[in-house]
Amino acid sequence: MNYNKKTVRDIDVKGKKVLLRCDFNVPMAKDGSGVITDDKRIRAALPTIQYLLEQGAAVIACSHMGKPKGEVKPELSLKPVAVRLGELLGQEIGMAADVVGPDAQAKAAALQPGQILLLENTRFEKGETKNDPDLAKAMASMAEVYVSDAFGAVHRAHASTAGVAEYLPAVSGFLIQKELDFIGGALANPKRPLVAILGGSKVSSKIGVINNLLEIADTIIIGGGMAYTFSAAQGGAVGDSLLEADWKDYSLEMIQKAKDKGVKLLLPVDTVCADAFAPDAKSQVVRAGEIPDGWEGLDIGPETVKLYCDAVKDAGTVIWNGPMGVFEFPAFAKGTEAVAEALSKTSAITIIGGGDSAAAVQQLGYADKMTHISTGGGASLEFMEGKELPGVACLLDK
Ligand code: 3PG
Repeated sequence: MNYNKKTVRDIDVKGKKVLLRCDFNVPMAKDGSGVITDDKRIRAALPTIQYLLEQGAAVIACSHMGKPKGEVKPELSLKPVAVRLGELLGQEIGMAADVVGPDAQAKAAALQPGQILLLENTRFEKGETKNDPDLAKAMASMAEVYVSDAFGAVHRAHASTAGVAEYLPAVSGFLIQKELDFIGGALANPKRPLVAILGGSKVSSKIGVINNLLEIADTIIIGGGMAYTFSAAQGGAVGDSLLEADWKDYSLEMIQKAKDKGVKLLLPVDTVCADAFAPDAKSQVVRAGEIPDGWEGLDIGPETVKLYCDAVKDAGTVIWNGPMGVFEFPAFAKGTEAVAEALSKTSAITIIGGGDSAAAVQQLGYADKMTHISTGGGASLEFMEGKELPGVACLLDK
């Protein structure tokens, strides 16, 4: 896939209406108060928005939020995003009551250079996730240029992330460009050795990444819940730990493939296990593969921490996707914290995949020590799997 895409700098937007796809799918307080609990994704869109406004464009911003499945769900309205965006930019943001309906059309038509209008949640339209050409055309008809900066949604071939590029000149914003440069650069031309740290609960959700990284990385480190499937596959006792029995054979294949390819595959040598899945559970450290019945592994053990931290010391590039344990419980966050700390100290380029690992790095206070933290969860995962990203493929080549 070609990642050398035209950007906002390669197109004249002066006096033009620009349809800007952002990923404003931000976490909201569960109490329905409309409070945004993390505005990182809104902040990440600011450089492109500010640039477009400075260039004299009229910006029609759009995004999805949640999964309303074509229904209008007031709790998934983008209104709170418009308010937060306005505060961050210090300027009033117009809010449309619909996506391509009469209110959006009228407000878009009246929009002046230097002004911003935010359309309602694109997934309130049934055609959005189906990549319906009529919806894409209707969105395109309001603008003259399409800019995508929604990295978190580039793995979706939806009307607003890909379809619309059929009808307008389409370029990337600075966020997508940055994500492509860092993640794409680390995959295509890494400073070696390239160490990939993969964690999280399931082997099944990381198959594509493991497969792709086995072709690229020098070392692969496995942690988190998925390590127990590898352990069980090798005959280890895993007690009540997370286990995907159907993936044991696959795990053995991966161990063999790593050997054949000369990739160092590191698995936990010890485990912190608990007598319940609870923050205050009783815990003990045991050898990997020796977890007693009735106990479950919730973190990597101290020897494993040392092994993994040593492995990143002399790395040229480290890609990290997925926590090492249940970091939400402080008693089982040590492995994830130690890896985050090791990454903060290495001179390697450090790239953190979005989702849980980004949240862990943030929560543990190491965010500003990393070279790049992706704003995309599923998107960064699919990127690391080597898959084509429809929201990038649709943009004009440089
Ligand atoms: C994300 O949160 O990863 C993106 O906004 C994509 O959301 P989706 O998984 O609902 O498509």
